[in-house]
Amino acid sequence: MLKITTVFLGLLSPRCHEYEECPRDDKKILGLDNIDITEAFQFPSTRRELLDKLQIRMVVFPGRIEVNAVFPIDPIVCQKYTSPWQGEGDKGDRVTKLGVRSGEVDKQSQRGGKEVSMKITFIGGGNMGEAMLTAILTKGLSAKGAITVSDISESRREYLERKYGVSVASDNHEAIGGVDVVILAIKPQQLAEVMVGLNEEFRSPQLVLSIIAGARIGTLCRGLGYRQIVRVMPNAPAQIGEGMSVWAATAEVTREQRKWAGSILGAMGKEIYVDDEKYIDMATAVSGSGPAYVFLFTEALTSAAMHIGLSYEIAQKLVQQTVLGSAHFMQRSDKLPAELRRMVTSPGGTTAEALAELEKGQFAELIKQAVTAAYNRAKELDN
Ligand SMILES: NC(=O)c1ccc[n+]([C@@H]2O[C@H](COP(=O)([O-])OP(=O)(O)OC[C@H]3O[C@@H](n4cnc5c(N)ncnc54)[C@H](OP(=O)(O)O)[C@@H]3O)[C@@H](O)[C@H]2O)c1
Repeated sequence: MLKITTVFLGLLSPRCHEYEECPRDDKKILGLDNIDITEAFQFPSTRRELLDKLQIRMVVFPGRIEVNAVFPIDPIVCQKYTSPWQGEGDKGDRVTKLGVRSGEVDKQSQRGGKEVSMKITFIGGGNMGEAMLTAILTKGLSAKGAITVSDISESRREYLERKYGVSVASDNHEAIGGVDVVILAIKPQQLAEVMVGLNEEFRSPQLVLSIIAGARIGTLCRGLGYRQIVRVMPNAPAQIGEGMSVWAATAEVTREQRKWAGSILGAMGKEIYVDDEKYIDMATAVSGSGPAYVFLFTEALTSAAMHIGLSYEIAQKLVQQTVLGSAHFMQRSDKLPAELRRMVTSPGGTTAEALAELEKGQFAELIKQAVTAAYNRAKELDN
């Protein structure tokens, strides 16, 4: 068994910060499963965050650690990462050998270079706040030490502090000082009061990122007395990293701030930037409310399955896997949904019979009406 004395914990994996916590599979990938590590040094948290973001893969040789880093696509961030190590400095998304030697890493990490990890404060640590927090930590966009959650609920604060090791606060005003990004994740009805408390308290280049449904950018700018604002419409699957977020920004939001927003939202699933806020109302009616349409369809199909004689257990399994499998199939196929539908519908067969019934009930027209109603409501909420 190879024995090395020093391991820099930050190098281990984007998924673990402590060697003991590092899953066995990760150790295997990293070539560490056969290594007796007698001493482990903790990186300063900021350095660790950098390493997390670099998606480090490490090969250990006696007395030497070779580090392969797959740089994220963000070239500006990469530029900042590469310089302190004097690696081979690829600024794209290629694999780069940094060739860091055991024992030299720490010296090199002392050489300076700008810290790039975002300091983030959440105002509101409820369902969506927690989902975003999980995504940010899992994707290594920020370390727990750089995140604060401000929430009026004491039990919520205790829970988040215990579970994620983040800082918590009960005073929104104190919590926003000196951070890069402030995420507004409170309910719409709590917004007015929160804005009064934070009016004219933001300082450029802080970015305010609001996920509050129906809160228009103009309302946020006026209420906060600040203009570097991004408005997002995420959706519920963001809670498991499968979300769809649509976002718009004020003209004052800088390129770097847009990158921050894009990377935070990208951690929760897919994200699309739109250059006009009106598309956010439209997205609200499609992807924002969309999960509920899918759940309703799933409920209806399950009860129809039970109506023709299947047990609930079997029915819900069949329905869930059918919805899931069809979604993946659609995503991976290069065919349009209509073509796929035709592919699985033989003339005179069972599917054709079912689709004819749906057509009779004006299924497509009903969906159009539902989405239009949601869109109209979204516009009303904004006003
Ligand atoms: N859930 C979704 O799928 C979804 C999708 C798209 C957008 N959104 C938007 O996301 C936002 C958050 O939704 P959510 O489901 O996460 O709500 P939530 O679970 O109610 O979370 C809000 C949290 O903020 C706390 N809070 C209330 N007033 C506060 C204040 N003055 N300062 C700091 N914290 C305060 C609440 O505490 P109390 O519970 O004690 O009030 C609660 O813990 C909403 O605006 C919603 O429109 C949600």
